Amino acid sequence: MTTRRVFHRRRFLQLGVGAAATVGLAACSSPSRAGTTPVGPNSPKVAAAESARRAAGAAKTSVRLNAVTGVVDIGGVQVNTWSYGGQLPGREIRVKRGDVLSVELSNELPAPTSIHWHGLALRNDMDGVPGLTQDEIAQGSQFTYEFTVPDAGTYFFHPHSGVQLDRGLYAPLIVEDPEDGADYDSELVIVLDDWLDGVDRTPDEALDELKRNGMGGMAGMDHGSMSAMPRSTLLGGDAGDLVYPHVLANGRTFRDPVAAEVKAGQRVRLRLINAAADTAFRVGLPGVRMRVTHTDGFPVKPVEADMVMIGMGERVDVVVTMPDGAVPVFAIAEGRDQYAQVVLRNPTTQMAPAGPEAVAELAKLRVLMAVELEVADRVAVPVKQPDVVHDLVLEGPGERYDWTINGKPYDPKDGLPIRQGQYVRLRMKNKTTMFHPMHLHGHTFHVRANGDRGPRKDTALVLPGRGLDVDFVADNPGQWLTHCHNVYHGEAGMMAVVSYVE
Ligand code: C2O
Ligand code: CU
Repeated sequence: MTTRRVFHRRRFLQLGVGAAATVGLAACSSPSRAGTTPVGPNSPKVAAAESARRAAGAAKTSVRLNAVTGVVDIGGVQVNTWSYGGQLPGREIRVKRGDVLSVELSNELPAPTSIHWHGLALRNDMDGVPGLTQDEIAQGSQFTYEFTVPDAGTYFFHPHSGVQLDRGLYAPLIVEDPEDGADYDSELVIVLDDWLDGVDRTPDEALDELKRNGMGGMAGMDHGSMSAMPRSTLLGGDAGDLVYPHVLANGRTFRDPVAAEVKAGQRVRLRLINAAADTAFRVGLPGVRMRVTHTDGFPVKPVEADMVMIGMGERVDVVVTMPDGAVPVFAIAEGRDQYAQVVLRNPTTQMAPAGPEAVAELAKLRVLMAVELEVADRVAVPVKQPDVVHDLVLEGPGERYDWTINGKPYDPKDGLPIRQGQYVRLRMKNKTTMFHPMHLHGHTFHVRANGDRGPRKDTALVLPGRGLDVDFVADNPGQWLTHCHNVYHGEAGMMAVVSYVE
């Protein structure tokens, strides 16, 4: 019976809250007990970390961005949404490692906004988290983000204000490495998304529905019965909280995809970014193997795969060799009966790309999970005994769609204390029936998997009933969020602060 199943899937698991390591902190402005004063975004330590990062004579790239409302075509469907510059995804920003990026954002939205530079180990005061690292950028006003971009890789940016990410406010940020390019001839960025805005409700309305219905899942009832709610055997539980009318690749539905011209035999680096709010994707190309080279911007020991899993906020780079004819890059929404695609077309042949039958075939192939990847030697950091360990117990959604970390909803003043120079371990435990892509701002952690050879990442899937340890070196002072990149979970409380203190 439906009700029972819903109740079961959202059962609130009781447990002893592992919050022992948490120390209550005073507000950033008011110094408290010695050794527990938070290093705030305006601390000289943040400025010092930035100058250490910035090379003399670093090149500067200046970009103007307008956050606007308006109609966007997502492939034969017109939606009224919020976007950067009226296009979906927003125009890519491309810089080189070590450059200074300066972005002037003009907020023409009917609400305050912000921009978070997802995955970058940047200066804390430019991290874009209202109420923690800056004030909201009010309607009709401007804000200039300016920071050194320390590491090469595939990143993206999005607001950190409410559930604005689930509108059209996202765009790729590609950081080139001068040493890249030996193993590919061209590249293509593919941004994945789940879409509801302007079709039947806004993301804010969807969040309200989830909160009203407590256990989740009820939102989207008008699209079908509860049995339509996404479930995933591979991820081990619920695959999402909402039903989405569309999923998109580079802003288009599968019906009217973006096509890219690639000559047969060319090696293409696909930079895959999951900008969805509530959907993980399996990505693969029928009949073409992928060589997986990076995750979350950082290199791994290359491995071959037919399919890769990409959770919300994760990125995976792969290299594929273009066959004769045309081939789709399929992004299959996990647990949902939906897919999106970008088509690679050989300019000299007329062949039609594979259709939906190929999606079903591909869905049967083994899926590579990011935790199976092995870190590339050049970015590996030796494992040590941690100086400090913090538990992050993930729970929810309770009666009112409350998602918590260590039994508490997000409180910017209540940080998990760490000190500059420490080797830190976060021990995440998922006590819920759904996976959580856990993201850490300002750092790239080591996933403690694969015999301590796990990849470096900033977002990692923590599966239902399972744990995941991640380690990082505290080398970027400030106040940093760690949270679930399901934007509804994060907004409903599943966020915490990793707080440098002095
Ligand atoms: Cu893309 Cu706080 O995250
Ligand atoms: Cu979550």
